[in-house]
Amino acid sequence: MAGLIPQSFIDDLLNRTDIVDVVGSRVQLKKTGKNYSACCPFHKEKTPSFTVSPDKQFYYCFGCGAGGNALGFVMDHDHLDFPQAVEDLAKRIGMDVPREERGPGNRSRQPVDSPLYPLLAAASDYYRQALKSHPARKAAVDYLKGRGVSGIIARDFALGFAPPGWDGLLKHLGEDPLQQKAMIDAGLLIENTETGRRYDRFRDRIMFPIRDSRGRVIAFGGRVLGDDKPKYLNSPETPVFHKGQELYGLFEARQHNRNLDEIMVVEGYMDVIALAQLGLRNAVATLGTATSEEHLKRLFRLVPSVLFCFDGDSAGRKAAWRALEATLPNLQDGRRARFLFLPEGEDPDSLVRREGTEAFQARIHQQARSLADYFFEQLSEEADPRSLEGKAHLATLAAPLIEKIPGANLRTLMRQRLSDLTGLGGEALQQLQPAPPAPPQAAPMDSPPPYGQPRSERPSMGQRRSSPRASRAASGVEPPNLSALRTLLHHPELAQKVENAGSFAAEDDTYAQLLVALLEALQKNPRLRALHLIARWHGTEQGRLLRALAEKEWLIAPDNLEQQFFDTITRLVTRQRERRLEHLLQKARLTDLSADEKDQLRRLLSRDNEAAPASTSGL
Ligand code: UTP
Ligand code: MN
Repeated sequence: MAGLIPQSFIDDLLNRTDIVDVVGSRVQLKKTGKNYSACCPFHKEKTPSFTVSPDKQFYYCFGCGAGGNALGFVMDHDHLDFPQAVEDLAKRIGMDVPREERGPGNRSRQPVDSPLYPLLAAASDYYRQALKSHPARKAAVDYLKGRGVSGIIARDFALGFAPPGWDGLLKHLGEDPLQQKAMIDAGLLIENTETGRRYDRFRDRIMFPIRDSRGRVIAFGGRVLGDDKPKYLNSPETPVFHKGQELYGLFEARQHNRNLDEIMVVEGYMDVIALAQLGLRNAVATLGTATSEEHLKRLFRLVPSVLFCFDGDSAGRKAAWRALEATLPNLQDGRRARFLFLPEGEDPDSLVRREGTEAFQARIHQQARSLADYFFEQLSEEADPRSLEGKAHLATLAAPLIEKIPGANLRTLMRQRLSDLTGLGGEALQQLQPAPPAPPQAAPMDSPPPYGQPRSERPSMGQRRSSPRASRAASGVEPPNLSALRTLLHHPELAQKVENAGSFAAEDDTYAQLLVALLEALQKNPRLRALHLIARWHGTEQGRLLRALAEKEWLIAPDNLEQQFFDTITRLVTRQRERRLEHLLQKARLTDLSADEKDQLRRLLSRDNEAAPASTSGL
């Protein structure tokens, strides 16, 4: 198996690649001042909000939030995985991609070339073939006909049939015991842990292959032909299938039309199929899970509008509210979500068949509610805005949710509406916002002051915040360590002015840890820039965070950033020192300190009011 690509090579590759060339060879770019712009290739739009910055070697879409460096662009645009994108960029400039031997600690993170893919594809072929020619196929064909599924739809969705019996697929694919092991990993076979006996997971069911955005089969849903339980059987979580992220029908919808305006989210496999059958080819279904932020992120990269279709019963209402909550953090201006509630006892499948495509469309047109309408309607049911108490409760419920909306215009309009409903003005509502999440702390004594509020007990360098108000305005409601990360990402040269990055390495807050890691990487190699740092952490949580930070800065005024940055560093160093001091004092109470420790303690006590450890010049 191919080894890992050395980080130094990726750094080098990105250094030699110009993102303008890379994007420009795929998208028609127009020079607009310092940057280039185009209509975004990742969502449908008429006016260009997609920007490429040659300075930052970054692209960013103000419409859909897509963004990244040249590697990220190639991955997303050409649907390549990370190593493939590296190969692609390397080929352009005639470089060979070296590979490192895989050390014991270097497990491959992504199942990029997982052997499970060909296996799942072979299984899908087997099920499809069985629907065409297996001796027992008649019941399955009749079932699908009975539900109005045509040959064309069966083909487009690659529907299949898992024949009755325990080992049809096992015999077909699993000659080899190693292969059988892989089939278990792929969720196709089940192994009885007591007897060791292996058998087909899916038996006597209609098979719905679940495909990823590149069209690869990653899992299956299987429906019984009659009334047995469970009605639907799904593949388990496997290295290539994460149920909470996938949407059934998304690949098929995109195959049918690359330029969808809206995607409809429904609950079931058969809802997707029935809607497609009746000409509504833009439906997708979650796989028996709640709609997640990850789902929405995926959808909004493809379309500006999402329509949720739920049962009108109480379970449906609950599911709709969860969908709304997952939508809020994805609502950039220019995106919208709508909600359609169906009459009790109906699902999209039954309804669209009963009333026909046009009536169903008319229903959407007349009855689908905007997210904002649904939001206030639902909350007004919980807290009656006709009474003062209700108004107060409504404001408490609504304000923090509204603040999750990233789209400034929509957020303002929602605030205004809340204000109209409750009579509470902006200032009162502002106070209802949740405190920014505090980073986890080792011990209570170390709790940092709430953001923007100086530590009260003891004067320390960390307090020297010139203007907390200006800082807050500059970076939004955001923990200081996060702001510091962002600043460092955009001004990597600042790392050279930080003297003792190692001295707060014991921080347990994730942001602070990442900050230390960035500082160390930059101090070792001062030539690294944002894109290298992001590439370095590519594919990890940290990488995603860095990427998001790098993109966001464009929208924020840079005043005071450097001051803030050094304040944060100073605070971290101070806190680390306090922590060490406390630790030594406590230890001294219980036992004798070593000479070394005494020395440390003496130094710590005398250094208490020492000058800032980091330079603050150049402001
Ligand atoms: P429903 O029970 O609403 O079924 O489940 P449906 O989609 O209307 O099915 P038909 O019309 O009877 O064929 C909705 C979804 O919940 C998941 C499936 O994803 C299903 O499509 N589900 C349901 C399961 O995973 N297992 C089950 O046993 C039932
Ligand atoms: Mn149904």
